[in-house]
Amino acid sequence: MSKNALRALPLMLAVAAPAGATDQSPEAVLHALIDGNDSAYLTQSEQNLMMMQDEPAYWAMEQGEILFKEPRGPKQVSLEQCDFGKGPGVLEGAYVEMPRYFADAGKVMDLESRLMYCMKTLQGFTDEDKELKEKHGNTDLVKLQTYIAAQSNGLPWNPPLDHPLEKAMRDAGEEFFYRRAGISDFSCATCHGATGKRIRASVLPNAANPAEWTKAISWPAFRVGHDAVRGSQHRVSECVWQMRQAEIVYGSDASIAIISFWTDKARGQPAIIPDVKR
Ligand code: HEC
Repeated sequence: MSKNALRALPLMLAVAAPAGATDQSPEAVLHALIDGNDSAYLTQSEQNLMMMQDEPAYWAMEQGEILFKEPRGPKQVSLEQCDFGKGPGVLEGAYVEMPRYFADAGKVMDLESRLMYCMKTLQGFTDEDKELKEKHGNTDLVKLQTYIAAQSNGLPWNPPLDHPLEKAMRDAGEEFFYRRAGISDFSCATCHGATGKRIRASVLPNAANPAEWTKAISWPAFRVGHDAVRGSQHRVSECVWQMRQAEIVYGSDASIAIISFWTDKARGQPAIIPDVKR
């Protein structure tokens, strides 16, 4: 398909696509980035671009909305009272301002750990319940994340750094990103520190290029190769595994630190949610 035809597609389908916080569909947000930046990473998969208009993550998003509004758990309440940082139940723009410090928990939390916190405190789930144990795949957690995150589609990443712990987390993430370790002596920057690096056919995103990096951190996304919707924590664990370093614990401070740093690196760029990945 020609570049012009590709450009026209999102315009035609924007009306039908489930909207996030802005009127723009995720593919329109991405096409605007492509138009404004010369990046082999952003344009590497024409097929993924074509798939965005009716990608499977929209199913997860719709199911997530139902789960979000349904009274669930031992306490039989919905998640509508959960505060994701902008007040109870306010989802629009909440995700692009995470990770953030939550006074009730006394911690900096990313979307996934905050969601689990509310499922425990509001709904009464415990770590033993399958709703919390099943982290990845076609799970409640992934569906809920996709719904919540999509309410920030098109909005600029703007994670707060006012609280000392927010800054400490971001700075710890920066250390992690550049520190070489493990049997291969890799750091994150080994693969994501320059433009146009490849592993086999994949062009890797450069964390120093905010236009590339916003696509890189736009999760949840449908991963074609996995035939599944994946979230940020999954991506972190995959890359730590690729570095042959010790397995990172889901929702640990180390994982949130990485996400704090990577979100800060995309500051000001629009989120593309849900995205489609290789
Ligand atoms: C050995 C090389 C390597 C290292 C080191 C590495 N990554 Fe990756 N990273 C990859 C590959 C390969 C992909 C997948 C690219 C694809 O799917 O096309 C990826 C994907 C990503 C993505 C998503 C990009 C996208 O297109 O959606 C992010 C974000 C990311 N890595 C962050 C990190 C972080 C943070 C670290 C350090 C903890 C790290 N990576 C370390 C190779 C690496």
